[in-house]
Amino acid sequence: MAKTKNKSGAVADITEFTAEQAAAEYETLAAEIAEHDRLYHREDAPRISDADYDALRARLLTIEDAFPDLISDASPSRTVGAAPSEKFAKVTHSVPMLSLGNVFDEEETGDFIDRIRRFLGLDAQASIEITAEPKIDGLGISLRYENGQLVSAATRGDGYEGENVTANVRTIETIPHKVSARDFPGVFEVRGEIFMGRADFLALNQRQEEAGGKVFANPRNSAAGSLRQLDSKITQSRPLQFFAYSWGEVTELPAETQLGVVEAYKRWGFPVNPLMQLCSSAQEMLAVYAGIEAQRATLDYDIDGVVYKVNTLALQERLGFVARSPRWAVAHKFAAEQATTILSDIDIQVGRTGALTPVAKLEPVTVGGVVVQNATLHNEDEIARKDIRIGDWVTLQRAGDVIPQILGYLPDKRAADAIPYKFPEKCPVCGSHAVREINEKSGKLDAIRRCTGGLICAAQVVERLKHFVSRNAFDIEGLGAKQVEAFYHEGRIRTPADIFTIAARDKAKDNLKPLSAREGWGPKSAKNLFDAIEERRNIGLDRFIFALGVRHVGEVTAKVLARSYGTFEALRTAVLAAANDKEGDAYAELTNIDGIGTVAVDALIEFFAEDHNGQVIDTLVDEVDIQPFARADTSGSPVEGKSVVFTGTLEKMTRAEAKAMAERMGAKVSGSVSKKTDYVVAGPGAGSKLKNAQELGVEVMSEDDWLALVQQG
Ligand code: IVH
Repeated sequence: MAKTKNKSGAVADITEFTAEQAAAEYETLAAEIAEHDRLYHREDAPRISDADYDALRARLLTIEDAFPDLISDASPSRTVGAAPSEKFAKVTHSVPMLSLGNVFDEEETGDFIDRIRRFLGLDAQASIEITAEPKIDGLGISLRYENGQLVSAATRGDGYEGENVTANVRTIETIPHKVSARDFPGVFEVRGEIFMGRADFLALNQRQEEAGGKVFANPRNSAAGSLRQLDSKITQSRPLQFFAYSWGEVTELPAETQLGVVEAYKRWGFPVNPLMQLCSSAQEMLAVYAGIEAQRATLDYDIDGVVYKVNTLALQERLGFVARSPRWAVAHKFAAEQATTILSDIDIQVGRTGALTPVAKLEPVTVGGVVVQNATLHNEDEIARKDIRIGDWVTLQRAGDVIPQILGYLPDKRAADAIPYKFPEKCPVCGSHAVREINEKSGKLDAIRRCTGGLICAAQVVERLKHFVSRNAFDIEGLGAKQVEAFYHEGRIRTPADIFTIAARDKAKDNLKPLSAREGWGPKSAKNLFDAIEERRNIGLDRFIFALGVRHVGEVTAKVLARSYGTFEALRTAVLAAANDKEGDAYAELTNIDGIGTVAVDALIEFFAEDHNGQVIDTLVDEVDIQPFARADTSGSPVEGKSVVFTGTLEKMTRAEAKAMAERMGAKVSGSVSKKTDYVVAGPGAGSKLKNAQELGVEVMSEDDWLALVQQG
């Protein structure tokens, strides 16, 4: 007993633990569970399967059994869910929304009934009525009605305090705003589950993908994400459903049994699950369980087990609660559905943002009633971590999730000549270099590899073209996202340069129908578009840079670059020089520009170093007139062209003011000192930059000296 697998898969026997060992593992487990609670409840983005989560909890409980001193009020076994998010106002539940304990097999189901009999002092044969119903994989909600009116709706949150989502819940069609039944009590908190049907979930994900929005991992996350929107119009557009199955504060109950209350719910107009049944023995409960499990794949909503509840409310009352869950109810969880099959290939899909995603191609296999041929492999680290190779027999699991996961390979069945999988470094769609960036926040290598051929990659080009013509880029009247999409598919526009040759080609009657003959178009609208395009042939350098859609180069960065380099060719030359000399001055010159970080510089280097992009840019540059960045005439300014670094505390002006003023006068403001720096303006508290300047022999001046200098002009 007490043997459970820990995270690394090794079996550690808790009965042999010292108190210190137990405390250490307990702490790690508690932190891990808390993090998964947060991901699941607050981010709607769990990272492990429910089965793995349950295993963590089970191990924690085993340690608590053996070392009860470790239990505190903050232990995961004493808490439910995660504290509500700050996004919503909080609602205190007048009756806490607790959670359910789990049983996993026949024996534990029998134990549940035996425990109840013992607690109630009944003999071993006494029959007890138990209801059995599906455990819906959605999110718990409490709907408060006062005098028949829906007055508030709250999520479970940590069980004591939830989030006020009333406005959003009011958009759910099947939840009554008003109950007029005469026997509906004055105060009644109807509790149940909000969920999204599978077909609706798949359709929503498809829409989201098309619109470039968030794609959800499973119906539960998608229901949670849809309900926890700040804009209830978004919730309204999402097909959420509801089943009522329990209650909170009530002035009066409509029946003496669980089943009776659920029947009242039905009469009052609340949706209830049709599969609920009454049982009077463990055998019957298990039969209902097996029946519901058999129907699982055919239901249009996800369920992850069966909930058993003592039917008689007076007995529920006597049984009460232990810590976070009732003694009178338990969830009998389905085992995660697993299967093994052959991984025939790994396909690399390229998303619209250039992300390369590995997809496992499988010999078709049935998992939990659904034929599976594809499974996600997440990213290259995941493949390496699991050492999954093409040709392997792999184990896959569908744990409530629509998208199956690959757990690992079967070592005994691995072919002797199987070779480790090598993730491609070239985009399979366009052949451009695919790179992993350093994440700015964590400093770690990003898990995702991205294609750098945005402008030519068929997987990305439509998105890039839309960006190219967008409002803050080329902003061509009459050429919006919709037209770009259509023109791309017709072959009228394939690259940015094509936009500027469209009129000439139209006139020359290339093998496309003239634009004026296109549905919804005429000579006038075609001419208007050609004119609008013509007008934008003249483009400011900052807009031009932004339009290229280089990763991490937004409008602000584009402006800073335009101001620093003045012309596109100067920028391009600087970036190409930096590419060849990442340790040297050329690279430092770029990263030294105030407001430009290494992430943007690296992205620029990747972009310009890619031959394909170079060709696209060359043809584009031939078509347009890029206006040097408009700046005031600074000739004659005493600091024109000088490179200056501000350090320490400035007393007469803020750093931003100093920078703006220097730039107005034609100086370049840099963030670090190099040989090329002309002046370092040092205020009190200056540290390493001042030291650098002294070492390099760069002229150092005070704020006053600087002001005197600029005022000479
Ligand atoms: S009864 C006092 N019935 O499961 C506990 N819960 O782990 C009352 N759930 O947060 C809960 N289907 O959101 C109950 N048929 C069902 C359920 C159900 C899903 C969820 C519920 C709760 C969690 C408990």
